[in-house]
Amino acid sequence: MDNLTILKIGGSVITDKNKEETARRSQMQRISKEIAKAKSQKINLILIHGAGSFGHIQAKKFDLNNSFDPKGVLLTHNAVKDLNGIFLDFLSKEDLSVAPIHPMSCTVLKGGIITSIFIEQIKLMLKSDIIPVLHGDVVFDLEGGVRILSGDQIVTYLAEGMKAKSVGLGSNVDGIMVEGKVVEKITPNVFEDIKHHLGGSENIDVTGGMSGKVNELLKLAKGGISSCIFNASVNNEVERFLSGARMGTLVCGG
Ligand SMILES: Nc1ncnc2c1ncn2[C@@H]1O[C@H](COP(=O)(O)OP(=O)(O)OP(=O)(O)O)[C@@H](O)[C@H]1O
Ligand SMILES: [Mg+2]
Repeated sequence: MDNLTILKIGGSVITDKNKEETARRSQMQRISKEIAKAKSQKINLILIHGAGSFGHIQAKKFDLNNSFDPKGVLLTHNAVKDLNGIFLDFLSKEDLSVAPIHPMSCTVLKGGIITSIFIEQIKLMLKSDIIPVLHGDVVFDLEGGVRILSGDQIVTYLAEGMKAKSVGLGSNVDGIMVEGKVVEKITPNVFEDIKHHLGGSENIDVTGGMSGKVNELLKLAKGGISSCIFNASVNNEVERFLSGARMGTLVCGG
């Protein structure tokens, strides 16, 4: 796919991750406006959002990564689907053409790792100038039951499979922080030196927080696709990323 941009907006930005099902509507509205401004430049965009408090809290409550509880599965999936619906409404209000894609219905995992996502409909949406909007989700696993699929894993899989040109992960921090400073660039070598500075999340997070994110992005970097982690909670940063600016921490192969 030519000129493909993949942007993930963290659940840490669009929800309060410590209070169950608390949407940050003003953030979703602001980000939708920024995407609408940048979209006039005719980019092909896939949007992914994290689950925040519409998934992490429920998944933890039902211990979904370790035990199979069909009611908990449905409840968690419905919660993140609700968040997706709220975000889509804000995007649509800015005259963006958007459509939802729920990973539970088109993805298969093996041991928590994606083996396939049915991407044909994503391609068709892009062809019709529609932004597909995916999210972290509860997904069935070939090894039995379900596992939690992070939005970060979806980013890596789609960026590799669809040869994305630009990949950005907006979270609630300015990038990867070491001793109070943003690390400008992370390569597999640099990672070895700083990995002890990478933690999970200060909030409730069942997919490894920053540590899980960087592990995903390093896989992508080894395949030749760079990405950046930036602060999507800050005004204009999403628009700046979509306009091609380099920002936050760059994760690259060398
Ligand atoms: N070295 C580090 N630099 C930056 N953030 C770090 C670091 N170590 C741990 N973190 C934590 O990682 C968090 C970001 O990851 P988190 O998974 O909570 O956000 P997200 O991916 O945006 O949200 P979601 O998983 O809901 O999509 C930060 O808020 C911070 O608490
Ligand atoms: Mg996360």
